[in-house]
Amino acid sequence: MKLVSVDKLEPGMVVSENIYTIDDRLVLPKGTVLEEKDIARVKAHSLYNIFVEDQKKAVAPNKQTPKGELSYAEKLRQTEEFIKFKQHIEENAERLEESFRMIANDTMPLDIDKLTEPVYNLFVEAGGTSGIFDMLHNLRDNSDAVYMHSLNVSLISNTIATWMRLSNDEIQLATAGGLIHDIGKMLMPSELINKTTPLTEYEQKAMKDHVVKGYELIKGKDIDVHIKNCVLMHHEMRDGSGYPLALKNDKIDPIASIVTVANVYDEMTSKREYRDAICPFTVIENFEKEGIGKFDPHVIMTFLTNIVNTFISNRVLLSNGKSGDIIFINPDHLSRPVIKCGMEFIDLASKRELSIISVV
Ligand SMILES: [Fe+2]
Repeated sequence: MKLVSVDKLEPGMVVSENIYTIDDRLVLPKGTVLEEKDIARVKAHSLYNIFVEDQKKAVAPNKQTPKGELSYAEKLRQTEEFIKFKQHIEENAERLEESFRMIANDTMPLDIDKLTEPVYNLFVEAGGTSGIFDMLHNLRDNSDAVYMHSLNVSLISNTIATWMRLSNDEIQLATAGGLIHDIGKMLMPSELINKTTPLTEYEQKAMKDHVVKGYELIKGKDIDVHIKNCVLMHHEMRDGSGYPLALKNDKIDPIASIVTVANVYDEMTSKREYRDAICPFTVIENFEKEGIGKFDPHVIMTFLTNIVNTFISNRVLLSNGKSGDIIFINPDHLSRPVIKCGMEFIDLASKRELSIISVV
């Protein structure tokens, strides 16, 4: 292990200690094999030196090779790692459908360890907390609602709990709670679940039953009470505007509060039959404006400050038609980073008339 100045970092170096910001946010976990975007991320946090392993590792060639004008996301979608991850998450979504069906019919026991095992495998395949959002943000055109959503929420809940530096047991609870939070949808009429147009007001009300139906299904099972609470409370809001019990503040289970944020973020940023995926920066802006009253402040602030950093080096399209790469996150305006468009630097915190339309 050796201490290396940030200016001397090179792709392929292996991070040997978790890297944190001075205010204790995880920048990169131990074991990360550095790529250009990771080095940019470390530099963006004004860090001076980091510990790396003595030996470098080879970076996958298809990640290293310059591809002309391709954006970071376009390059990522061509990597072997992404193609494999996409295939595996889709296979696991199908298996999860079968497991949920059997659990709902009482023909299979609810074995949390067995059910969550593929999630941990996917997490490792994605490269842990530093890589998972790269993968998920590029799967946004998949509209397989319940099962893919369940896997996504589980992976995101795991990441948030890790960012919050919770214990391993708590991280496992968040992962499990995220995975089965919507299991009650198995007991809803399929016309409602598979509807390809927006739900009517009446249908939206009916859909709220999935929470209680899910809780009824699992409440007698031998699983941790926090996991049960994730099923019951993932639509509760701290200001009392949620359902089914309109719980407020600390009456909401802390693990369920993590799943709530993961659920809203994934729901909004995923494509649906009747609407396009909403740009993550629009969702982040809404969280910044309205989130503090509705969500657990510690969960939402940890999530927002970390998620924006996963977009450093990504190319975005602006509302003026220009596109450029995110080079700096402004901690006071998380949804308004600095963008490099050719030779021009656009600071969205001061150009309020502009906004990010999409990540490309
Ligand atoms: Fe739900």
